[in-house]
Amino acid sequence: EKPIAIAIDGPAAAGKSTVAKIVASKLSYVYIDTGAMYRALTYKALQQDQSLEDEKAMYQLLQNTIIDLVQTEAGQLVKLDGADVSLEIRNQEVTSNVSIVAQHGSVREEMVNRQRQLAKKRGVVMDGRDIGTHVIPDAELKIFLIASVEERAERRHKENQEKGFSSDLEKLKDEIRKRDQLDSEREVSPLLKADDAIEIDTTSLSIDEVAGKILSKVDAKK
Ligand code: C5P
Repeated sequence: EKPIAIAIDGPAAAGKSTVAKIVASKLSYVYIDTGAMYRALTYKALQQDQSLEDEKAMYQLLQNTIIDLVQTEAGQLVKLDGADVSLEIRNQEVTSNVSIVAQHGSVREEMVNRQRQLAKKRGVVMDGRDIGTHVIPDAELKIFLIASVEERAERRHKENQEKGFSSDLEKLKDEIRKRDQLDSEREVSPLLKADDAIEIDTTSLSIDEVAGKILSKVDAKK
């Protein structure tokens, strides 16, 4: 069988990365988390007190930044200029600022170039916001995952509690709504379902059910 590219897009906290990892692992494909790339750049800029609104400066910063997505037995590591920042890029400060960085056209263009390079070799599952519409418009399978804001916030809340992190459900709902709005309303490749994407509402589905649906679509392609 010929390996394919699977694009998974959707709003914040819809379960994209969890499902993408399972699908990639079942197919022995490479998983590419494009959100982690925007998060890594945001983290670096925050560390350097760089103004996130300044497109030119952010683009220059990216030019001098190496972001590696490293596959290990224990999962994917995100390396920023050689240092492991896998945990740091998930923090609250990065999460609530990343959509500002992701609005800049020149930053997106450079990120998309890097992502296309990674997707050239098929046998990939890539998740993000503009994968099916822009990064790999010729992906053999496109999935658009959605779920209600309430459900997405509840899932994040549970996850935080299980990890022993402090968590405020109402704040999570606000943050998710705000990020969705910025991602959907930005001028350059906003969050959008590709015409040929299959939409799956995960609100009342388990992770395994969603992964199963995607895997059956992969089978149907063969
Ligand atoms: O998927 P994740 O929540 O990690 O993405 C973080 C942010 O990065 C998104 O809210 C969005 O602003 C940006 N992003 C993007 N395009 C992608 C992936 C992520 O604009 N392909």
